[in-house]
Amino acid sequence: MSCDHKHHILQINNLSVSFRQYENGRSHRQIDLPVISRLSVSVHEGEIVAVVGSSGSGKSLLAHAILDLLPYNAVCSGEIYFNGEPLDKDRIARLRGKNIAFVPQSTTYLDPLMKVGRQVRGGRGEGRAKKQRELFRRYGLGPETDGKYPFECSGGMTRRVLLTSALMGDPDLIIADEPTPGMDLELAKQSMADFREFADTGKGVLLITHDIELALEVADRIAVFYAGTTVEEAPVEDFRSEETLRHPYTRALWRAMPQNGFIPLEGTQPYVKDMPAGCPFGPRCQWYSRECAGEIPLKRVGCGTVRCVKCQGEEVHIHHHHGDGNYHHTHGRSPEEHVHEIRMGDRT
Ligand SMILES: Nc1ncnc2c1ncn2[C@@H]1O[C@H](COP(=O)(O)OP(=O)(O)OP(=O)(O)O)[C@@H](O)[C@H]1O
Ligand code: SF4
Ligand SMILES: [Mg+2]
Repeated sequence: MSCDHKHHILQINNLSVSFRQYENGRSHRQIDLPVISRLSVSVHEGEIVAVVGSSGSGKSLLAHAILDLLPYNAVCSGEIYFNGEPLDKDRIARLRGKNIAFVPQSTTYLDPLMKVGRQVRGGRGEGRAKKQRELFRRYGLGPETDGKYPFECSGGMTRRVLLTSALMGDPDLIIADEPTPGMDLELAKQSMADFREFADTGKGVLLITHDIELALEVADRIAVFYAGTTVEEAPVEDFRSEETLRHPYTRALWRAMPQNGFIPLEGTQPYVKDMPAGCPFGPRCQWYSRECAGEIPLKRVGCGTVRCVKCQGEEVHIHHHHGDGNYHHTHGRSPEEHVHEIRMGDRT
């Protein structure tokens, strides 16, 4: 089998994120709550990669880690590369909202004091104005929307405004965190078609969603997220049958889809505070054995990767692009400052 190894637009190796917290109200002892551990995922040119996972699995935190928008008490380690160069704090500050566009899940990212038309245009010029009007029309936002303030927009409208804002610039990568809730089916399909068209010009989309069926319809590759890590990354074709999938959790997701029998998976995803040692899926896995409590290596199987001791495959060793390439930083700013930084109006 030949797997395409095209140019990487985004590459994330061994990303871990934890929150530093006081153990309880009275103690001065700080503990680190790990919410993402050793996550690896990549987006190549021309690709839509969907990150699929249930609520609370860390999907939004992944987007925030890439964009350096994590709250002040987050500690982050690992490597993030954009177009082959490390994405450090200075670089992401320069690229955010320009080369890397973000469609946030939360609708509070708009500047409450600026009319939405102006926020989406992000600058002057007839070219921008024309493009903004076209995008608004495309997403069913009438001319009267231009002059509205965010508080005058419904949730569904705000989501469409955020989406048009990402499509407005000329980014290489769009990171879209649950872009479709609140849209009707036709608009949701429209937005997916626009992402497809965007990717087909050699760009990349990281589509974060809990909706596996949507992901299977539009994405080229699927990264399956479970309890803060990607347990499997697979080309969309591998989802045609259960046998071509690798990880027991992915197989359980497959069986839970209506067309595959609607068989629910027992149990729930572990919360960070009671994460088991070794494989996070262990407590729900019928193949669990002692070796699952240890380190679970990342393996390549076919054109995908998996983290499960029972899968036969070649172990993946991560190559560092530049020196040891590691970064490790604590974030020193308040959440309000973060929100302010990516307001659409700042983009000129
Ligand atoms: N500031 C924080 N401090 C401590 N824990 C946090 C913080 N922010 C998020 N978390 C925890 O991190 C985990 C992942 O959250 P995240 O918002 O990334 O999930 P998600 O996959 O995007 O979920 P959803 O599908 O509901 O959007 C959750 O368990 C959440 O409670
Ligand atoms: S590592 Fe073990 S517990 Fe985890 S999915 Fe594989 S077999 Fe199941
Ligand atoms: Mg989320």
